[in-house]
Amino acid sequence: MSVAKKDYKRVTVKSLVEMKQHNEKISMLTAYDYTMAKIVDGAGIDVILVGDSASNVMAGHETTLPITLDQMIYHASSVVRAIDRALVVVDLPFGSYQSDPKEALRSAIRIMKESGGHAVKMEGGKEVKDSIKRILNAGIPVMGHLGLTPQSIYKFGTYTVRAKEEQEAQQLKEDALMLEKAGCFGIVLEKIPAKLAEEVAKSVSIPVIGIGAGGGVDGQVLVLHDMIGMTHEFNPRFLRRYMNLYEEMTTAIGQYVDDVKSKDFPSDTEQY
Ligand code: KIV
Repeated sequence: MSVAKKDYKRVTVKSLVEMKQHNEKISMLTAYDYTMAKIVDGAGIDVILVGDSASNVMAGHETTLPITLDQMIYHASSVVRAIDRALVVVDLPFGSYQSDPKEALRSAIRIMKESGGHAVKMEGGKEVKDSIKRILNAGIPVMGHLGLTPQSIYKFGTYTVRAKEEQEAQQLKEDALMLEKAGCFGIVLEKIPAKLAEEVAKSVSIPVIGIGAGGGVDGQVLVLHDMIGMTHEFNPRFLRRYMNLYEEMTTAIGQYVDDVKSKDFPSDTEQY
């Protein structure tokens, strides 16, 4: 299906706000390395998120907590070297911004200087307000992240849908308004009821990107490795798999093993 979209040569935080104003949905995917980022950017994605989900996807950790600022910078700089068009947003990892605004600013500066990323994302609402303001004051664009915030998984205890209760929903709505007022250029809403997400998206002028937050928001983000089916044990309802690379790669690698063992590979034409 072809969709109306303006041809942005380079996506900026300003383009995203324009997309919202023109009712053009924003596409966002994660990437953590050069080769994948090259494909994702070439396919026309608007935003690449160098997510701290790299902790799970690339390093095999159970949570996003262990990944370090140095490791995020390594992933982000690999992504930045690949892109021609997309906006690159880099997660501030757990422990790099929670203790005080000065530390948050130092971490954000390191990301911008050492990786070449275009913006940072951080989880939380009013509790990180001062840090957000400090980073914004230094001219660094900030994206907020509300709802299920995986860096607080040990506080929540589970990865189930957030803000189903009125009190938490109310707090989330207030946090979204605060993020807009503070100057964030966008907000990720993760795993909250679709109706609430739509209400939040309508209440702010900045783009709201959802993951497991329904279709009433301004754009969608998925973890690339889930979306192309490289991972196969994670099956939340919100995930649409566009490929089954886990199976395809397993078959291809199995075939290679057989070909090596049977001496079918390399053939006469595959050698010098
Ligand atoms: O780290 C990540 O991949 C994210 C997305 C789930 C939004 O924050």
